[in-house]
Amino acid sequence: MAERIDVSTPDGSYPILIEPGLLERLDPAAHGLDRRAAVITNTTLAPLYGGRLADALPDAALISMPDGEQYKTLDTVTQLYGDMVAAGLDRSSAAIALGGGVVGDTAGFAAATYMRGVRLVQIPTSLLAMVDSSVGGKVGVDLPQGKNLVGAFKQPERVLIDPSVLVTLPEREWRCGMAEAIKHGLLRDPVLLDLAPDYRMHVAEIIRRAVQAKVDVVQADPYEQGIRAHLNLGHTFAHAIERVSGYAWLHGEAVAVGLVAAARLSARLGLCDPALADHVEALVGGIGLPTRITGLDPQAIYAAMATDKKWQQGRSRFVLLEGIGKPRIVENVRQSEVIAVLDKMNN
Ligand SMILES: NC(=O)c1ccc[n+]([C@@H]2O[C@H](COP(=O)([O-])OP(=O)(O)OC[C@H]3O[C@@H](n4cnc5c(N)ncnc54)[C@H](O)[C@@H]3O)[C@@H](O)[C@H]2O)c1
Ligand SMILES: [Zn+2]
Repeated sequence: MAERIDVSTPDGSYPILIEPGLLERLDPAAHGLDRRAAVITNTTLAPLYGGRLADALPDAALISMPDGEQYKTLDTVTQLYGDMVAAGLDRSSAAIALGGGVVGDTAGFAAATYMRGVRLVQIPTSLLAMVDSSVGGKVGVDLPQGKNLVGAFKQPERVLIDPSVLVTLPEREWRCGMAEAIKHGLLRDPVLLDLAPDYRMHVAEIIRRAVQAKVDVVQADPYEQGIRAHLNLGHTFAHAIERVSGYAWLHGEAVAVGLVAAARLSARLGLCDPALADHVEALVGGIGLPTRITGLDPQAIYAAMATDKKWQQGRSRFVLLEGIGKPRIVENVRQSEVIAVLDKMNN
């Protein structure tokens, strides 16, 4: 049942292993985890999996951060540095990020910068982290001014995906993971869109296909100088919605609405058939993800988008769709077109 996907990067290559039961049966030496290490997780996952993992390793400390996007901050990173010193981590030690995207991004950033960088192993535990955030080497934290404004590229030494930990993942978080899986489907793999409605039944195949789609993109463009930007499909809208909602919307929920908005904007600009936007909305809505910006002000969303780090010199920049598998970057979309799309999604 074990799957292995190798990712080649400018700094060498690393494996992504996908195997139900991998954590239970973990062989520390086989994964380079028999030296000094810290399992960095959060207060929810420490009692579920973190303690057991640290105990199963010959020389590992357990470090916990609070749970929630609001803790993906430099303050938390500072705390982690202190805990890493206290745990005796040196330059040859490994940081093991065990958690969802928040732990992966925050602990990953700490690993990228502590002593100018220690080894990083990603063990994603949310579906979103498995299909997206643990792969590709982007780590970072939020600032009060916006999401992911401080970060680094830090390739993991390996990514260990054990889908069996998803048994404890709340349903709302499953759906969030599916938003990113649908994004990968729209960008590169239509089979993902066919599997999405029955996602619990097809989770192993969804993880494998979504990871492969992301790997294909990041291998082609590791530092986001070109096509990697396609992975931001729906995200210009999403990051703004997260912020305007005061993070009451989860990242995946905002991505879901962002995918619908991107498809609607594509149709409005004549890039794709409106039927594609209907299809995206039906898929997203069908699995219980939001398709409306209900209660959020389109003008406020636009204002938040205008601070997006991808909008260079104030020029708007969207990833849009000409069809499934045909993303296209479009700049200088008129504000009135964007607002018109958001207005129609506001009920
Ligand atoms: N670095 C990247 O390339 C990248 C890509 C996509 C998203 N992200 C980031 O990822 C973050 C979102 O990640 P997320 O959706 O995983 O959120 P998250 O890390 O907040 O996890 C969601 C919730 O599920 C809980 N959880 C995780 N695994 C669990 C399990 N197996 N059992 C029970 N509970 C579990 C967590 O404790 C948390 O409460 C955002 O900050 C986003 O910006 C980063
Ligand atoms: Zn995302």
